[in-house]
Amino acid sequence: MSLLPYALARPFLFGLDPETAHELTMHSLARLQGTPLEWAYCNGMVGDPVELAGLHFPNRVGLAAGLDKNARCIDGLGALGFGFVEVGTVTPKAQPGNPKPRMFRLPRANALINRLGFNNDGLEAFLANVQRASFRKKGRILGLNIGKNAATPIENATSDYLLCLEAVYPHADYVTVNISSPNTKNLRALQGDEALDGLLGTLSARRARLAKQHSRRVPLFVKIAPDLDEAQVQVIAATLQRHEMDGVVATNTTISREAVKGQPHAEEAGGLSGAPVLEASNRVIRQLRAALGKDFPIIGVGGILSGADAVSKIEAGADVVQIYTGLIYRGPDLVAEAARALQQHRSGAPE
Ligand SMILES: Cc1cc2nc3c(=O)[nH]c(=O)nc-3n(C[C@H](O)[C@H](O)[C@H](O)COP(=O)(O)O)c2cc1C
Repeated sequence: MSLLPYALARPFLFGLDPETAHELTMHSLARLQGTPLEWAYCNGMVGDPVELAGLHFPNRVGLAAGLDKNARCIDGLGALGFGFVEVGTVTPKAQPGNPKPRMFRLPRANALINRLGFNNDGLEAFLANVQRASFRKKGRILGLNIGKNAATPIENATSDYLLCLEAVYPHADYVTVNISSPNTKNLRALQGDEALDGLLGTLSARRARLAKQHSRRVPLFVKIAPDLDEAQVQVIAATLQRHEMDGVVATNTTISREAVKGQPHAEEAGGLSGAPVLEASNRVIRQLRAALGKDFPIIGVGGILSGADAVSKIEAGADVVQIYTGLIYRGPDLVAEAARALQQHRSGAPE
């Protein structure tokens, strides 16, 4: 357990506008990481190793993309006990994202709605931050999540992904191709049959070239939405395998408001995350596992608020899990709680 109990910090943070609270937290982490003061919040890492996509994950709980879009706090976030951290989504050029306010809490539902729209400082700043971090040297796994600029027409999306892939390739343990944010116009259309086939075919060919050039084959993961029916999931699964993708990250936020109807902010546009997305994400994971067979890596994300939720993802078919919104509601202790629950689940001990 960290020195600063989150129960004390949370009322203060929840008194602030959500994006201000986020920026303040990230700023503090960026200042503290790598200094002796890191002790104030750092957690030991629960060991629960797994080999996946040719990588050695020291435990099965990771940070989901979007919390550290600019890769400013890789070491600070790593100190919370994550076995792996995914940063981004980064786009080729810096962009401001959507107008504020664009992030909302739904505390009754342990949920958030965001329509940030890939606000980020662009590839160059991202890579400078990635290269400063010592996280990978400690045997932890770093995922770099890539996207497209809002100003790039969807017909030219592939060129943005290629630019990002080329640039991040030497610095990543794995790369996630994000085609499922609801906050960039038409992005999710890239999950459609032909569009996905074209995009993944091109990325796969470029990866083959990069693998030769760098003498290292970096795994490519694809991140998908929870708002897909079973037939769509099956086509996506077949397309991932056809193009030799190495894993799937399931899922992103949902555009559905079914679970939060009538609650304050429920009608805000954007992606809903947290507890209400757990079941929808787990359904997609189950369908993916059925379609992909037992060996294809699945990274389960969406709605983990407890150790039991993390276990539900593994039982649905995920190999490892990621957390974002749960961290806001439960604080850093959730990381160890989830990792321990998975460790005990594996050894068959009661939770
Ligand atoms: C504020 C916010 C920003 C996010 N930004 C990104 C992003 O840039 N890229 C991405 O792939 N996912 C992004 N996500 C989605 C999360 O990585 C995750 O897939 C989703 O929130 C479901 O997990 P959770 O319920 O644990 O939050 C974002 C989520 C939130 C709440």
